[in-house]
Amino acid sequence: MDFAEFCAPQPERQRSEPAAPPVPRAAASQTARTSAASSEAAGNGRIKNMGASTAMRICSDQVVVDMRSALKELVENSLDAGATKVELRLKEHGTELLEVCDNGGGIPANDLDGIALRHHTSKLQTFDGLSKLSSFGFRGEALNSLAALGTLTISTRTAADKVGTLLTFGRDGAVASRTPLARDVGTSVSVANLFEPFPVRRRELLRAAQAEMRKMLAALQAYSLICHTVRFNCSHTTSKGKAESRTSLLQTEGGAGGYRSAVASVFGSKQLRELTPLSAQGGGLEVSGLLSLPRAGFGRRTSDRQYLFVNRRPVDFPRLSRLINDSFRTATAKSECFPFVILNVQAPGEAFDVNVTPDKRTVLFSDEASLLNLVSDMLAALFTA
Ligand SMILES: Nc1ncnc2c1ncn2[C@@H]1O[C@H](COP(=O)(O)OP(=O)(O)OP(=O)(O)O)[C@@H](O)[C@H]1O
Ligand SMILES: [Mg+2]
Repeated sequence: MDFAEFCAPQPERQRSEPAAPPVPRAAASQTARTSAASSEAAGNGRIKNMGASTAMRICSDQVVVDMRSALKELVENSLDAGATKVELRLKEHGTELLEVCDNGGGIPANDLDGIALRHHTSKLQTFDGLSKLSSFGFRGEALNSLAALGTLTISTRTAADKVGTLLTFGRDGAVASRTPLARDVGTSVSVANLFEPFPVRRRELLRAAQAEMRKMLAALQAYSLICHTVRFNCSHTTSKGKAESRTSLLQTEGGAGGYRSAVASVFGSKQLRELTPLSAQGGGLEVSGLLSLPRAGFGRRTSDRQYLFVNRRPVDFPRLSRLINDSFRTATAKSECFPFVILNVQAPGEAFDVNVTPDKRTVLFSDEASLLNLVSDMLAALFTA
């Protein structure tokens, strides 16, 4: 892939400076050639290329900044692989081990050497393909970052393989060892001791381990609600200070039960009773989901159960959240109340850009006003019915 062309604008720069005008493709590769030439020319000055391995170590935190983003990346890979079962195992709140096992298609033998190399992906080959992509991943960064930040191990088998393969990796993402292993079709990826090479971050992670696990669980709940046909299971094992104990943190049925069955599995049937379906279409957009009815006693004191998705991808969309909360508060005449909401916007790839921040949680719509009007009209009809 031509990476110069693909690379997203950095979020920090976006906040402080206006974005530079887009560089045409031919000009971009010309720029890349020119900068290579000028970096040779700068050989005697103070400004030098820091080298790929240093650059990788200081930039790898853009994708994986905490336990939650590590979990997100592994779960998304399992979903992209077509898994119908995803099992997560955490040891010591995930700080000792985070393992995600799936029954997806597995990784073909020819791909194994490049699997955790930077910008190596099976999902996107050209920038133009981005708007047609339906996978969660496309940047080819996640496994590479996890190899740099922890001890990465992968075991995998495709239906075409007689036997599976167990792989270990160096910090640069290159395969360090490859061993045959008996296993079912699918993939298991484990990350042990996240942030071990970065003692300050590691200490901070261990200090906040319980809070980190709560955030991981919230992220996992979002995937289990939107990917409701997939069966999720998450368990936590701890042996600190007492005999080893294992707790089930989340378990869903999967199958054809839709949003309602997922909500019942994750939050219980009491939560389900206050919800009504959402549905609207217009301008090529389709909205679906569930929302609290504006009745006394419904809704929550915090926004902890609000899940927004674009084409099933969990996103932060403050203007859409505000619209939903304001409409709900007006309808309930209660100022500090948040509805439970699951809302998925299904949109054509050209209608929005999700490659804005490395975690892909920021989404920009080319016609945001139409989307907000569609949702606003839908809520008005629902709350006056
Ligand atoms: N659980 C899995 N099952 C099958 N293939 C996988 C799995 N995890 C990773 N892969 C393969 O490894 C490649 C690299 O994964 P990685 O997460 O680093 O990048 P990506 O998913 O392509 O993009 P992104 O960095 O945006 O997530 C994927 O493109 C995919 O081909
Ligand atoms: Mg990925």
